[in-house]
Amino acid sequence: MATSHARRIRIAPSLLAADFARLRDEVAAIEAAGADWLHLDIMDGHFVPNISFGPLVLAALRKHTKLPFDVHLMISPVDPYIAAFAKAGADHISLHPEAGPHLHRSLQLIRSLGKQAGVVLNPATPIETVGWALDLVDIILVMSVNPGFGGQAFLPSQLPKIAALRGMIDASGRAISLAVDGGITPATATGVIEAGADTLIAGSAVFGKPDYASAISALRAA
Ligand code: DX5
Ligand code: ZN
Repeated sequence: MATSHARRIRIAPSLLAADFARLRDEVAAIEAAGADWLHLDIMDGHFVPNISFGPLVLAALRKHTKLPFDVHLMISPVDPYIAAFAKAGADHISLHPEAGPHLHRSLQLIRSLGKQAGVVLNPATPIETVGWALDLVDIILVMSVNPGFGGQAFLPSQLPKIAALRGMIDASGRAISLAVDGGITPATATGVIEAGADTLIAGSAVFGKPDYASAISALRAA
């Protein structure tokens, strides 16, 4: 049994799979069901081939929940919008290195706004991309699908990458969260946790189920 089982696994349901006609109730329900973070996918129809929602929706939901807002920006250029998401109530702001020319500068900007900074690695993006910025990073998010849509199949090719990042984080001595996003189900979560992840982001496997609390427990039990 891997030592990674000793970690407390955080569950971050992705609002992308919620009923958009009832967002306020969905957020209240997911908080009551025991979610740790609320994952918010921001898509611009340019960096990724889909459009979701923006800071106005965050600001509207912010007063209805105490859950940390874990914001995943899939927009390019990204820098001009970071302050707007911070103001709208983001607690964590994560971005893709491909979304701007200066990853280090973007991370500095997020931290200057008092928010946790995250780097998101696409399936083909090497872990070395984040290596020289680790001192500014609070969260590393591994995409286990190509970003843009919920409900896609998990890519097992990302498991050794998660393990390599676990080694990189442990060697850094920093408290960096290692999250995985895309195709997470109770079946795929086991391998992800054994590889060293501590945070599971799940859309369909939580909001797509009738009972959110049991869906969250099923992931936590993986
Ligand atoms: C995809 C998003 C994910 C998505 C996950 O671009 O980053 O957060 O909502 O959805 P599932 O869990 O259904 O794969
Ligand atoms: Zn996401």
